[in-house]
Amino acid sequence: MSDINPNEVNDETNVLAEDSARARPQGPHTLAPTDRGEPVLKTDNLIGGYLPGVNILNGCTIEAYPGELIGIIGPNGAGKSTVLKAIFGQIKIRGGKVILKGEDITGLKANKLVTKGVGMVPQNNNVFPSLTIEENLEMGLFQKPSIFAERFDFVTTLFPELGKRRKQRAGSLSGGERQMVAMGRALMMEPSVLLLDEPSAGLSPVRQDETFMRVHQINRAGVSVIMVEQNARRCLQICDRAYVLDQGRDAYTGTGRELMKDPKVIELYLGTLAADQGH
Ligand SMILES: Nc1ncnc2c1ncn2[C@@H]1O[C@H](COP(=O)(O)OP(=O)(O)OP(=O)(O)O)[C@@H](O)[C@H]1O
Ligand SMILES: [Mg+2]
Repeated sequence: MSDINPNEVNDETNVLAEDSARARPQGPHTLAPTDRGEPVLKTDNLIGGYLPGVNILNGCTIEAYPGELIGIIGPNGAGKSTVLKAIFGQIKIRGGKVILKGEDITGLKANKLVTKGVGMVPQNNNVFPSLTIEENLEMGLFQKPSIFAERFDFVTTLFPELGKRRKQRAGSLSGGERQMVAMGRALMMEPSVLLLDEPSAGLSPVRQDETFMRVHQINRAGVSVIMVEQNARRCLQICDRAYVLDQGRDAYTGTGRELMKDPKVIELYLGTLAADQGH
C-alpha cells in the first residue's frame, strides 16, 4: 500500500502491557463491520480438506476489514492452519469462496495471490536457511525486483536488526529472528493482507512479546493482518476482532475483549485460556 508510513511505527512501545482496546479506542477499529465498507479479505462459508471425501473446513466464514488485526484461535486440529492454507491456494476448496477486495480469488495459486496483495507466513520452514537475510527478502520480491530498494527500506525500518545483519545467513538466526525474516519477506510485496500462522510458536516468553509487538507494528503501519495463534489470551489482547474456530467452523466471533469475557468461550476453551492466565 502506497500510504504505508513506516515512520509511524518507530516509537512503538510494549503494547502488550496494555489492553489493545484501550490503546486504540477511536478510529475505524471501533466501527461495526457493516460500517466499514468492503472487507479486504473474506472467506465465505469455506468447505474443503486434504483427502477426498474428508472435509476439515465445514463452512468457515471470516472477514477482515481494512486496517484490522484479526485473530483466529481454537483447539488443536480445529482447522486454523487449514483455513490459512485454503485462502492461500494450498488445499482443495469444495465449497464457498475466498474474496479479496470484492474479487473472487478462490483456488488461485500462491504466486498469483502474492501479486494480488496476499502475504503468507506459514507455521514452519518459513525462511531459506542457506540464504542471507537480504537474499531471503529478495526472494519475497522475485516477481517485482524493481521495487527492492524501496521495500527493503520499509521492512528494515520496521525491523532495523534485519538491515544491520543483512549479510548473515538465516539458518544461523534464533527462532524469533527467523520469524522477523519471514514476516519481512512477506511484507516485501506490499501485501494488503498478511496471513500469519502461529508467529509466537516455539519462542521464549520474551521473544513472544516481541513478536506480538512486531505484528502490532505491522498492522499499525497499514497492513491488515489475519493471525492464527495458540497463545489465545495474548492474541485476544492485541487483535481488533477474533474468531474461535471449532471443527472447521467459526464458532464464535467478537472483539478480543468481548471474547475474553464470554463465558461460553471461556468454558469451551478454558484449557487454552486458563493456561495463559497465569503469565
Ligand atoms: N497435510 C494433511 N493431510 C491430511 N490431513 C491433514 C493435513 N494437515 C492437517 N490435516 C488435518 O486437518 C485437521 C486440521 O489441521 P490444522 O493443521 O488446520 O489444525 P490447527 O487448528 O492448525 O491445529 P494446531 O493448533 O495443532 O496447529 C487435523 O485433523 C489434521 O490432522
Ligand atoms: Mg496449525
